[in-house]
Amino acid sequence: MPERTPYIAANWKMHKTVAEAAAFVDALLPKIAATQHDVVICPPFTALTAVVERRYGTAVKVAAQNMHEDDAGAFTGEISAPMLVELDVEAVVLGHSERRQCFGETDETLARKVPAALAAGLEPILCVGESEEARDAGQTESVLTAQLQADLAAVDSARIAEVVIAYEPIWAIGTGRTATPEQAQETIAFIRDILREHGAAADAVRILYGGSVKPGNAADLLAQADIDGALVGGASLDPRGFAEIVKLTADLIR
Ligand code: PGA
Repeated sequence: MPERTPYIAANWKMHKTVAEAAAFVDALLPKIAATQHDVVICPPFTALTAVVERRYGTAVKVAAQNMHEDDAGAFTGEISAPMLVELDVEAVVLGHSERRQCFGETDETLARKVPAALAAGLEPILCVGESEEARDAGQTESVLTAQLQADLAAVDSARIAEVVIAYEPIWAIGTGRTATPEQAQETIAFIRDILREHGAAADAVRILYGGSVKPGNAADLLAQADIDGALVGGASLDPRGFAEIVKLTADLIR
């Protein structure tokens, strides 16, 4: 079975000025100096460079929180993959539920964004997840299947292992309600099965859990066989708490 390097990402959302981002990285780096795994910070666009410049020579990678699918064009307010690559950004979060819900992000645009990111050399962190209504109605699997099939439709199966998937049940984001480790494991194993059907090297794909991950619940989630890391929102704003979550991956072997 291929090895899957653990992956912990800090999704800051619309938090932190340049000065705050710089202070966070300066506080975080000494705490995680020993990590061999992927630690990814996703700052707002304005703070990307401040984080990039401080993390050179460390294990930290930098991801944007969104991008447009075209390289350039008349799209006021948007940012393209080449613009991110120029800043030495390595990854990009795509399809976060807040973008889907608040800004009308659709599976149709994601079907173009994921391959555009790969083509530009950016690692896509593709977010999928069901609403509370869908879970209660027993539609979790059909919602996830539809999202994955649509969003990855134009990705060559040979490249699927370069995509990081974040399973984020919408009812667990920012609510303090975490999926139980068993729920998260069961759903992420299901996602791996879907990827396998796509003809992909599914055992090589990193699949993260996201939704109210904190230092106190991360260990049980990360102990699950198919959970390869976490996309952390609120708890990633504090360097101490985020470093604690990163350290939990020290003994993880997949
Ligand atoms: P949360 O956010 O950890 O604050 O629930 C996770 C996310 O939205 O990525």
